[in-house]
Amino acid sequence: MKASLLYSMVAVGLVSATSSHALKSSGISHRSLPNAPNGYAPVQVECPSARPTLRSAATLSPEETAWLKARRAKTTSALLDFFGRIDIDGFDAVDYIQNSASADSTTSLPTIGIGISGGGLVACLNGGGVIKAFDNRTDGATGKGQLGGLLQSATYFSALSGGSWALGSIYINNFTTVSNLQENLWDFTSPEIVLGPSDMAYKDFWGNITAQVKSKRDAGFITGDADFWGRIQGYNFFNATDGGVDYTWSSIALTSAFQDGDMPLPLVVMTGNSAATSTEDSPPTAPIYETTPWEWGTYDNDIYGFVPLEYLGTRFVNGIVPNNETCVRGFDNAGFITGSSSDIWNEDGVDIVEEFRGYISKLNASSPGSDEIALLEFVISEFLSATSSTNSTVNGPAAYDPNPFYGYNAATSPYSNDANLTVEDGGENSQNVPLYPLIQMKCSVDVIFAIDSLGVNDFDSDWPTGKSLIATYNRTLLNLANDTAFPPVPDLDT
Ligand SMILES: *[C@@H]1O[C@H](CO)[C@@H](O)[C@H](O)[C@H]1NC(C)=O
Ligand SMILES: *[C@@H]1O[C@H](CO)[C@@H](O)[C@H](O)[C@H]1NC(C)=O
Ligand SMILES: *[C@@H]1O[C@H](CO)[C@@H](O)[C@H](O)[C@H]1NC(C)=O
Ligand SMILES: *[C@@H]1O[C@H](CO)[C@@H](O)[C@H](O)[C@H]1NC(C)=O
Ligand SMILES: *[C@@H]1O[C@H](CO)[C@@H](O)[C@H](O)[C@H]1NC(C)=O
Ligand SMILES: *[C@@H]1O[C@H](CO)[C@@H](O)[C@H](O)[C@H]1NC(C)=O
Ligand SMILES: *[C@@H]1O[C@H](CO)[C@@H](O)[C@H](O)[C@H]1NC(C)=O
Ligand SMILES: *[C@@H]1O[C@H](CO)[C@@H](O)[C@H](O)[C@H]1NC(C)=O
Ligand SMILES: *[C@@H]1O[C@H](CO)[C@@H](O)[C@H](O)[C@H]1NC(C)=O
Ligand SMILES: *[C@@H]1O[C@H](CO)[C@@H](O)[C@H](O)[C@H]1NC(C)=O
Repeated sequence: MKASLLYSMVAVGLVSATSSHALKSSGISHRSLPNAPNGYAPVQVECPSARPTLRSAATLSPEETAWLKARRAKTTSALLDFFGRIDIDGFDAVDYIQNSASADSTTSLPTIGIGISGGGLVACLNGGGVIKAFDNRTDGATGKGQLGGLLQSATYFSALSGGSWALGSIYINNFTTVSNLQENLWDFTSPEIVLGPSDMAYKDFWGNITAQVKSKRDAGFITGDADFWGRIQGYNFFNATDGGVDYTWSSIALTSAFQDGDMPLPLVVMTGNSAATSTEDSPPTAPIYETTPWEWGTYDNDIYGFVPLEYLGTRFVNGIVPNNETCVRGFDNAGFITGSSSDIWNEDGVDIVEEFRGYISKLNASSPGSDEIALLEFVISEFLSATSSTNSTVNGPAAYDPNPFYGYNAATSPYSNDANLTVEDGGENSQNVPLYPLIQMKCSVDVIFAIDSLGVNDFDSDWPTGKSLIATYNRTLLNLANDTAFPPVPDLDT
């Protein structure tokens, strides 16, 4: 049995503190794959001859098990590299790793996970700054006392909400560096990401987004805040035509660099809920869903299953696609995944339209009659027109419709009779650091670098207190996911 260690790091603003850039030459190179069948609209397709099925959460997926072998070879040499640069008094880490590498390496070599929290753009930049420091490709990151190489040594990299914007920007752009993103893509000169990148006219930006979201609705799928939010993120974080509208999350698994184990396994976390409680913060019993490049689902005891990500949106019944149903592809739009993970718009007091109206009144005080005011009025009308149909939810959680777990594990799952699933921001269960995928014993993670970028009471002026770690510890005591382990975390006063 391996010891489990957990390091919680409250990181400082590394992004702004570091001015040098590693990649001077290129822009952001081509990324994952634009393999959606019809832009943003999911499409009914003929099922492959081996019809997709759900799998039980009793084991890791065969894809992950095979991939871990490829990744292990890479992390072993990265660890040798990392520890070769670090002196530990009285312990020859390189010798230890060399000896262990020949033994049963899954149990004798450390498995490392990194998790970056939510907290909006602050969390994206702060989490991104930590990743930049952990990345051996960053200028100066392998100097004395630096941590470059931890990213290369990690097996898992989880993120939720604002953190998933950084993760998505890295992975959808071919595992590029944060330095390169800063230099060539990230452009936060617009006052808000809802206004789009500064090189795109507001009207074009919103005209494109509403047309894309409407195409999904017209195809018969429920649309809502998470769709808009995800499209906004696509234009801000993906360097691809039309905000990466054709990029699916599952396409990450098709790229050879990923298959060769050249990067950690990306995991994006979302919280589930029942329609009845969807306007409240989620209780600890709410499902914790994780998105891998292969699948979407949960190790929680009750649902205890995963759906192939490429076929999310397909009508599964009791884990299979009935003979009279077709398959659906293109539901797993890359921005929709990060948009779901960051969909806080169902929370009381964070109405997206009110948010726009708030900007309007601010602008009205400083620059009355400005173009921005007209644009925001336009945005509100477009938004409302795209969401005021029977097939939409406004200020609601993301709709995962149809529910892939319909009829699945009916004896234990409270969701097996639900036509659809509601999915919301991964931090809405108080666990703002995406630890659950990393504490599944099946994953054998030994060390977690957890980056928490969100104050507890106030977004802008408060510090992380450790409340998120306590919430994770608390949930492990409830036995909702029986294959997890977490060290005891004392209360806030301690
Ligand atoms: C986006 O990617 C293209 C290549 O696909 C590259 O030429 C361009 O420089 C990139 N743009 C930015 C802003 O990095
Ligand atoms: C992705 O990045 C890898 C490693 O830098 C590079 O070898 C590969 O050519 C890139 N792929 C594309 C499609 O740009
Ligand atoms: C970063 O680590 C990888 C994996 O160990 C290694 O292949 C690469 O050469 C390293 N790059 C630098 C710049 O140190
Ligand atoms: C989408 O944006 C492009 C510019 O990037 C613009 O030419 C086009 O008219 C926009 N489409 C809509 C529907 O607004
Ligand atoms: C709503 O979805 C149904 C199919 O579920 C579709 O027939 C209908 O056209 C959609 N309505 C709108 C307004 O998009
Ligand atoms: C854990 O939960 C799963 C799914 O409900 C169940 O099949 C399994 O028997 C449980 N294991 C233990 C040790 O309780
Ligand atoms: C398939 O059969 C089920 C059960 O009879 C029915 O509810 C469903 O609507 C059918 N689906 C299609 C696409 O006809
Ligand atoms: C801007 O402020 C003026 C004066 O208070 C008010 O009449 C007007 O309705 C406001 N416009 C908007 C778009 O809020
Ligand atoms: C989701 O399904 C429930 C019933 O299971 C239904 O009441 C609700 O209207 C559905 N929501 C949407 C957005 O279709
Ligand atoms: C953890 O559980 C304790 C005891 O039930 C409770 O008092 C506390 O509020 C919980 N803390 C969090 C952050 O969930």
